Amino acid sequence: MTKDAILVKNLKKHFKGHLSIGRIEALKGVNLEVKEGGIYGFIGPNGAGKTTTLKIITGLIFPDEGEVQIFGKPHTDYIIRKDIGFLPESPYFYDYLTGEELVKFFGSLFGIQKKELNERTKYLLDLVGLKGKEKIPLRKYSKGMLQRVGLAQALINDAKLLILDEPMSGLDPIGRREIRDLILKLKEEGKTIFFSSHILADAEMICDEVAIIVKGKIVQKGRLEELLAKDVQFYDISFKGIETPPELKDKVVVAFEGYSMIRLKDEDEVDKALATLINKGGKIMSLMPHKTSLEEIFLSSIEEKKNE
Ligand SMILES: Nc1ncnc2c1ncn2[C@@H]1O[C@H](COP(=O)(O)OP(=O)(O)OP(=O)(O)O)[C@@H](O)[C@H]1O
Ligand SMILES: [Mg+2]
Repeated sequence: MTKDAILVKNLKKHFKGHLSIGRIEALKGVNLEVKEGGIYGFIGPNGAGKTTTLKIITGLIFPDEGEVQIFGKPHTDYIIRKDIGFLPESPYFYDYLTGEELVKFFGSLFGIQKKELNERTKYLLDLVGLKGKEKIPLRKYSKGMLQRVGLAQALINDAKLLILDEPMSGLDPIGRREIRDLILKLKEEGKTIFFSSHILADAEMICDEVAIIVKGKIVQKGRLEELLAKDVQFYDISFKGIETPPELKDKVVVAFEGYSMIRLKDEDEVDKALATLINKGGKIMSLMPHKTSLEEIFLSSIEEKKNE
């Protein structure tokens, strides 16, 4: 049996409110199981508790209650640090360093020797799309470039687990696609990637599993394909060549210049309708199942929480 790369059990964390008045329950019992070797998306709206969870996993802050294991060991074990690469939410780097110096600095913290460090730094800056920008000081980097150098820094110790807090934030659509491709490439190399995002489309495109967090609680989690496949909401059949048969008249969504489209709720209805249409000499142009998108699951999860 493969070990979970990350196992989070019943994490609770509160913060004191502004001027120490009030109490913010940031995490209200979070459970996560991140399997080794996949891409796991941790999705939620602003203030849901994503960064708080990631900070606890990486040992930056302590929970009030709960437990975290990395590859089967308590996350406080020193030894596992070398197995984790971390991209913080708003990386703040000493901005008089150049991109190259920054990556080398983090590499030297891991004790990587000079020759290997030079080669690996060059390789990583190239990989994240900063070739030719190595000698520019970070204060002249754009937000997207800082995000990329942050990723290079997270990859310097060739860790098998990458924890990335909003890796696509600050990037334009092309930059986002490049980072998505990079994450997929890292998965192919056998790495486990756990990243947070509120950009649903990015998560939907690359994740094997997702968890949705709203107001400190996980509201949905599972394999992406299962979450999405759970309900086909309806099927659209479009056809031409015949008038819509009377028994299907109330299912018509559009009828235009000889083309018609009907919308049906379940598979049995679809089988019957197809048989009817073909029998009457109609030509089927398309049959499209409409599945729930991650966006819809996400929005309905938030709605449910609001109504609680
Ligand atoms: N150091 C802190 N002091 C007080 N409150 C905090 C602190 N850190 C987080 N919080 C609060 O805890 C809640 C969760 O915050 P967190 O940063 O984990 O959310 P997030 O999901 O990462 O949001 P975002 O998408 O905006 O990054 C929020 O209400 C936030 O205001
Ligand atoms: Mg955050």
